[in-house]
Amino acid sequence: MKTTEYRILGIESSCDETAAAVVSSGREILSSVIASQADLHAQFGGVYPEIASREHIKAVYATVDQALQQAHLELADLDAIAVTRGPGLAGSLVVGANMAKAIALGSGLPIIGVNHLEGHIYSAWLYASGNVPGPEPQFPLIALLVSGGHTELILMRDHLQYERLGSTVDDAAGESFDKVARLLGLGYPGGPSIQKAAQEGNPKAFHFPKAKLSEPYNFSFSGLKTAVLRTVEELKASGKALPVADLAASFQQAVVAVLYEKTIQAAEEFGARELIVAGGVSANKALRETFRSQVNYKVHIPHISLCTDNAAMIAAAGYQHFIRKQLDDLSFDVLPNWPLVATMEV
Ligand code: KG4
Ligand code: ZN
Repeated sequence: MKTTEYRILGIESSCDETAAAVVSSGREILSSVIASQADLHAQFGGVYPEIASREHIKAVYATVDQALQQAHLELADLDAIAVTRGPGLAGSLVVGANMAKAIALGSGLPIIGVNHLEGHIYSAWLYASGNVPGPEPQFPLIALLVSGGHTELILMRDHLQYERLGSTVDDAAGESFDKVARLLGLGYPGGPSIQKAAQEGNPKAFHFPKAKLSEPYNFSFSGLKTAVLRTVEELKASGKALPVADLAASFQQAVVAVLYEKTIQAAEEFGARELIVAGGVSANKALRETFRSQVNYKVHIPHISLCTDNAAMIAAAGYQHFIRKQLDDLSFDVLPNWPLVATMEV
């Protein structure tokens, strides 16, 4: 395989961040710009799709322009454009896709439609320009992908090869953080606000039961959310002040424990050499510390700034397709429900 340096512009607009980045050879971040709408959606306690797409329209041009400027590059210096094709909000995806298509049309650069989940996994390959790159993840590996919309346990035997071992049967891990934060009266997005509240709390104060599932690598978080809700209702009914910090810490501990146990179990069963933990929830301090504390596997967890949505990860995944000549033509449509793996393969 060629080892020439390739520079790829990534564009991401699947949810509530408009992002653009330039990445060299799938690893070195030359620039990464993120325009977040999170504050705007906070008043609704979640992402409001109509507002999201309109905000993307307003931000996308300046975001791409800034990413090129920060990288000190022009379109003529690039080799390809990678853009999130799905999954995500249709109206939001279309904005990034059309921007990418317009640039491709004007510049003649090839275009690659990237799966957002694949992007999260490839965030584990990234490093900031000027830093010494860490070792690349080695196969076979288990990737735990935990975001606001997805919770997946994936076996990768090689680049771009995904076998889904399990996924959530109801809420995604990040979604459960968001829902529990709401019922504890904490802000959106729920992950960071639960983490903050949990710092002052006792993770053993409440014992929330683990879901029992027939498939060993599937996850379920809705029962946990209901257990927190019942506890909150009982405490309120008894007239006591809510021990928010203890509830947040106990909930967080329950989520971290199940994610960790199943990932390690999968690594043992499938003979993985290394682990990747990626997606918005991988920004969680307790989750990072738990994975880092184990010694049997090398664990790749992206820098916190790369855990939540960004465009560098889209460029990184796009690079893997680009060097294999897996390109798209300008007529591609966005895929709001695009799974990383179409069916259960293992
Ligand atoms: O990957 P992401 O930015 O967007 C999706 O693709 O969904 O993930 C967003 C999710 C939200 O549910 C948010 O609450 C969660 O990641 N999250 C966290 C933390 N930071 C973000 N969850 C737990 N702890 C955090 N520190
Ligand atoms: Zn994401």
